[in-house]
Amino acid sequence: MTTIKYKNYMSDNKKTIITPLKDGPLIVENLTNFHGVDGEIETTSSMALCRCGQSKNKPYCDGSHVTAGFTDERGENENDKRLVFKGNPITIYENVAICSHAGFCPNGKPDQWRPKTERGGFTDEELIAKIRKCPSGALSYAHGQTEFRDQQRAPKITIVKDGPLNVEGNIELRNTQWGEGASQEHYSLCRCGASKMKPFCDGSHDEVWKNGEDAF
Ligand code: FES
Repeated sequence: MTTIKYKNYMSDNKKTIITPLKDGPLIVENLTNFHGVDGEIETTSSMALCRCGQSKNKPYCDGSHVTAGFTDERGENENDKRLVFKGNPITIYENVAICSHAGFCPNGKPDQWRPKTERGGFTDEELIAKIRKCPSGALSYAHGQTEFRDQQRAPKITIVKDGPLNVEGNIELRNTQWGEGASQEHYSLCRCGASKMKPFCDGSHDEVWKNGEDAF
């Protein structure tokens, strides 16, 4: 199986890097393309972004993770496996453990969608277009023997209201155990503190912020 890979856009000394601190925030360095719900956000060369969900100064860390007793421990997750839905010529892959519930699945119902049963309603082109919108990397596909998991994009982080940080453009994520088959070009990072796949989002914000309690 061949996987298409793309290099980072930034030069090495200006490479965008995310480092999750132990039981603390995400340190983001050299990011120039940062978006919130109201548009672009000014960046500094190094930012500490909250991932415990408790900061009063979101999206930034204000130290509340300490009093909140935030821990980024993550145990075994039986859902952390890559499901393979073989087809001809399109094979679909899915890891539900890193699904951020963005709702770009073919029927918009990520908890119910399974390619094996639902693909019949879509052409291959429609399936590919929908899978390429998946921000978390939970979904990817192969055409024949060539896997198309990553895309060619500039580094960018987008804050989802009442949801995760969507990362794209091959931003290096340090000190991380990746989900099985996960894309390292695009992924969603937990911002509510409740994910069982930290630092990745697993959709837990649906419960934590179901009443729109994220102040951002
Ligand atoms: S990680 Fe520091 S306040 Fe949330």
